Amino acid sequence: MNSKQIFTSEAQLTAFAAEVALILVPGDVVYLCGELGTGKTTFARAIIQQRGSVDSVTSPTFTLIETYHLGDVSVAHLDLYRIESDAEMEGIGLRDYLDGDWICLIEWPDRAPSMLPDPDLTVNLAYEGNGRSAVLIATERLADRADWLK
Ligand SMILES: Nc1ncnc2c1ncn2[C@@H]1O[C@H](COP(=O)(O)OP(=O)(O)OP(=O)(O)O)[C@@H](O)[C@H]1O
Ligand SMILES: [Mg+2]
Repeated sequence: MNSKQIFTSEAQLTAFAAEVALILVPGDVVYLCGELGTGKTTFARAIIQQRGSVDSVTSPTFTLIETYHLGDVSVAHLDLYRIESDAEMEGIGLRDYLDGDWICLIEWPDRAPSMLPDPDLTVNLAYEGNGRSAVLIATERLADRADWLK
């Protein structure tokens, strides 16, 4: 999908992210890109809450990773903004989450590009007036699951 989605409210962004959640399968890697505060965690939270009943989805800003075992899938939510070394990446045990059993949602992937697999979906968030915009880039593998991603 090359078209830009515009969300004038957080509720609109959340509703869109919930639609995206429905087409994700274990093994998918989603990059969440955009400046500070553009809604990456909000987007990830909506995906996680759509796929399972979760009390709270906290930002992995300091923990680097939070994991969720949901009804039919497990989700690893990473925030690499504060990552400082390859050793720290090893410490997260990222490889364990890339075994095909997990959906990986990765904020700030550009902080550790060499350590990450290519994404199946990239969500580029940006400020748009008082709201936000999102441009999605999907691999063919993922776009085949939803006409609106083509
Ligand atoms: N249309 C909108 N969509 C999403 N969030 C919005 C919108 N309008 C305002 N907001 C607010 O913007 C903030 C987005 O915060 P969020 O933590 O999701 O950003 P982030 O991209 O994860 O930031 P960081 O880079 O610090 O991780 C929230 O406080 C949210 O309420
Ligand atoms: Mg965040």
